[in-house]
Amino acid sequence: MAECDPALRIAAKPSNAHDSARLHVSGAAGYVDDGAEPIDMLHLAFGQSEEAHARIAHMDLSAVRAAQGVVAVFTAADIPGANDVSPVAKDDRLLADGEVMCVGQALFLVVATSQRAARQAARLARISYEPRAACLTIAEARASSSFIEPTQRMARGDARAALSAAAHRVSGGFDIGGQDHFYLEGQIAIATPGEDGQVHILSSTQHPSEIQHLVAAMLNLSSADVTVEVRRMGGAFGGKETQAALFAAAAALAAHLTGRPTKFRCDRDDDMIITGKRHDFRIDYDVGFDDQGHILGLQLRLASRCGATVDLSPAINDRAMFHVDNCYWLPDIEIVSERLKTHTVSNTAFRGFGGPQGMLAIERIMDEVAAFLGRDPLDVRISNLYGPGRNVTPYDMVVADNIAPEIIARLRREGRYDERAASIEAFNAGSAILKKAIALTPVKFGISFTTTHLNQAGALVHVYADGSIQINHGGTEMGQGLYIKVAQVVADVFAVPVSQVRITATRTDKVPNTSATAASSGADLNGMAAHNAAMTIRDRLTAFLAQTFACAESEVAFAADGVVAGKEKLSFADLARRAHMGRISLSATGYYATPGIAYDRSTHKGRPFYYFAYGAALAEVAVDILTGEHRVLAVDIVHDVGRSLNPAIDLGQIEGAFIQGQGWLTTEELMFDAKGRLLTHSPATYKIPTASDRPRHFRISLWQDENLEPTIHRSKAVGEPPFSLANCVFSAIGRAIAAISPEKRSLPPLNAPATPENILRAVRGYRD
Ligand code: MTE
Ligand code: MOS
Repeated sequence: MAECDPALRIAAKPSNAHDSARLHVSGAAGYVDDGAEPIDMLHLAFGQSEEAHARIAHMDLSAVRAAQGVVAVFTAADIPGANDVSPVAKDDRLLADGEVMCVGQALFLVVATSQRAARQAARLARISYEPRAACLTIAEARASSSFIEPTQRMARGDARAALSAAAHRVSGGFDIGGQDHFYLEGQIAIATPGEDGQVHILSSTQHPSEIQHLVAAMLNLSSADVTVEVRRMGGAFGGKETQAALFAAAAALAAHLTGRPTKFRCDRDDDMIITGKRHDFRIDYDVGFDDQGHILGLQLRLASRCGATVDLSPAINDRAMFHVDNCYWLPDIEIVSERLKTHTVSNTAFRGFGGPQGMLAIERIMDEVAAFLGRDPLDVRISNLYGPGRNVTPYDMVVADNIAPEIIARLRREGRYDERAASIEAFNAGSAILKKAIALTPVKFGISFTTTHLNQAGALVHVYADGSIQINHGGTEMGQGLYIKVAQVVADVFAVPVSQVRITATRTDKVPNTSATAASSGADLNGMAAHNAAMTIRDRLTAFLAQTFACAESEVAFAADGVVAGKEKLSFADLARRAHMGRISLSATGYYATPGIAYDRSTHKGRPFYYFAYGAALAEVAVDILTGEHRVLAVDIVHDVGRSLNPAIDLGQIEGAFIQGQGWLTTEELMFDAKGRLLTHSPATYKIPTASDRPRHFRISLWQDENLEPTIHRSKAVGEPPFSLANCVFSAIGRAIAAISPEKRSLPPLNAPATPENILRAVRGYRD
């Protein structure tokens, strides 16, 4: 076990309420759209492509320009610098330049006196297109060899040989749908021109630094001329990691060119059409196993729809490959990952970042093996778990912190899996239309950005002479509770109540060169950076006290009832005042970079993750095989958060992630028509879970063993891992359908999401 800094080992954390909880529920929390608008504020809308793939022959914008309220209309030709809002590959245009690659792509930018005027005017354009052949689906893109990057391969051993030597062999495949982020606050930005060409941007973004850099390049400014600020987002879920940049850049361009403040508040339908989603996948597998269900050889093909541009698709598809093993030892394995370029909106980060699709694939395979052998799927899962002597991932990382077996055992016991499985079998024997099933699936999720250099963070802590504290760091708040966690870390360093710590908006002029708040690493990275900043100040205060009161530094202690220095005792406020008078600097920056990780993308080998977060969930469902409807009756969860930084926040993350995963796998369905137009672009046609979809019985327990790695207070990341707990819902629905012919020894052909239509197709396919 790694050495632990004693300062990091402190007592269990209090469940402070989210710092904005009162403001959220009273409507007083400020979002970008809430501030008073200056009188000269202009509003924006994009003219959008109606074609999936075409050359733009001509854009007649005269009617747009003449429309009421329109102040200006800009096209690509008006962009002074780089026409680029991409994260990595420089292939996302702010405004189309000759060619359109998907329906909804921004062609021109309307600047008007109101949002309504801008949107209405945008529709008046006459665009003549020269349509080109479009690939819309994974199958079409594969047929025309359309990829965003070369097909990747991760392998160990000889999967082909292991498959042919195995006693049993099954092949199959299924489709996994995408998912819209459906953040409650849509994409939005306000840009305000400053003096001497500078610009200030308020954005609802997970990645202020990236927007700063893109806007600087777009306007031929330096990064120092551009400031991006975000106090909070009304949800993001990965959808504002890269794609908030489009709206922020548009606002900055218009502010720069008109000299007036601008606001781009994207309408919900436009938001759903214009922005990327979770990648949909096609999974194909060939698995070899023995009589006990041990997987011996596996060939797996993961194919995803990346959309028109690269965005973050390489890393997302890498993460899908990294999570194919989930909690299981897969000795001989070959994973082939195809990243298909389609003429649809560019898919992007979404909670789990490809991991959920990889994990769902192997869980499906576990169910397939169990069905073939007529064994309980949980027993098959357990016999394949990582363990001593079988603890290396397909990418050569040792699984050193494996607690999946204990978590599963506890959940099996506390959730009474075996009793319930038996009573469900009895129920099904007497019920022809309603079929029930139970399923227990585990999760192991790798924590760190797999792009190693992103694993760094900075923080800035000020102690004011009255003893109050301000904290700023590079992480952004999207509802996940990052700010309150980091504030608690700083409060603990000085042994003051968290109410004494004022959390301030994330700003690129306070902490520079930050990474996106993503990969669940916000608290790991920023919490440690803030801890380091606060420790620098505490060390200065300790030296000052030792000198002032002529005691040893070891006689100085920061405690809840005051600061002790030898025989003296004073309040923290008194100390701050004295230190200021004593000319001690009360401000410090802190920095942290995750140690010990290294990964070679060219071979897909290395240690991409600092540690793993684990969990397991058990769902009981009922399916009506005549209507295809289902209900999730009961869910039990045990989830690993290390030594929790805030148990209440962590429970909220687990509950929210589970329900979001349940929505992905059951009700949320994206449909495009034959021209590549999204049909499901509003809550009327796209169904996220509602309160009534939450299972009546929903019990979540924390697994609170400390992280083996010396993370901040030995906690673990919690944002994304619990999303995949919902895999048990999909497994259970499949198993319930299979209960219509228990003798059949195969899985129903169920695709995700398990909508009534897909359930009925699976029922029909299973009966035939
Ligand atoms: N929780 C809320 N309430 N809102 C969000 O947008 N995003 C999720 C997760 N939890 C999200 C959320 C995603 S995709 C990630 S990567 C993490 O939060 C990011 O924050 P963290 O790194 O601080 O956990
Ligand atoms: Mo989360 S998908 O890493 O923003």
